[in-house]
Amino acid sequence: MSDPVVSLRDLRRSFSQGGVTIDVLRGVNLEIRPGEIVALLGPSGSGKSTMLQAIGLLEGGFTGVIEIAGTEATKLSGDDRTALRRDHLGFVYQFHHLLPDFNALENVVLPQLVAGTDRKAAEARASELLTALGLAARLDHRPSQLSGGEQQRVAVARALANRPELVLADEPTGNLDEATADRVLEEFLKLVRGEGSSALIATHNERLALRMDRVVRLHEGVLV
Ligand SMILES: Nc1ncnc2c1ncn2[C@@H]1O[C@H](COP(=O)(O)OP(=O)(O)OP(=O)(O)O)[C@@H](O)[C@H]1O
Ligand SMILES: [Mg+2]
Repeated sequence: MSDPVVSLRDLRRSFSQGGVTIDVLRGVNLEIRPGEIVALLGPSGSGKSTMLQAIGLLEGGFTGVIEIAGTEATKLSGDDRTALRRDHLGFVYQFHHLLPDFNALENVVLPQLVAGTDRKAAEARASELLTALGLAARLDHRPSQLSGGEQQRVAVARALANRPELVLADEPTGNLDEATADRVLEEFLKLVRGEGSSALIATHNERLALRMDRVVRLHEGVLV
């Protein structure tokens, strides 16, 4: 069997606030295989975002082991960690965080330029992804000129632009109405499957979770 794309071993995270310590993650273990799409469920406050932030290598304060594509991320320097994140991970958030002054195409081109892709290839890739998401006629629209569902589609295209092995998504359709959320998620899953990427998708929505390959739940700080 091929190596997992991400491997978490005994991941722990506590927060201290006003003299009170809460243990949010109390020993999380998880392996995600190449191409596997996993739903992360759990009630509000159970630690889903905290867990995604850990895997996204954006924050410290964790103990345990986080391996991304066979590399133990916790042992890397800041620069190496940034490179690991850039080369292997893609992110979709509940609120898209698109750059407001750039159009849809440019929002998907920019992360590719940062990763060293030349502009022509980056534009071709961006255009292909946005077209697959039904946005061929919106390439030169800025985020403010797009609907909420369209903005989330651009965010999905941006996350996939550098062909990440693992896409991390935190309530990627959480701010959309139900019908739009269903459609965007469907397109997102189709694209991720087509690309052969893995994904870990935090959601409150049990119904949407059932469309993924596997469901894990955070309960009292561990996955069940
Ligand atoms: N920076 C922080 N400082 C203190 N406590 C924090 C911090 N970040 C998160 N927490 C606490 O950790 C717990 C888990 O938060 P987290 O955002 O991971 O939950 P979640 O499962 O993503 O919830 P939701 O479904 O509402 O998004 C919460 O009780 C929260 O108050
Ligand atoms: Mg959250």
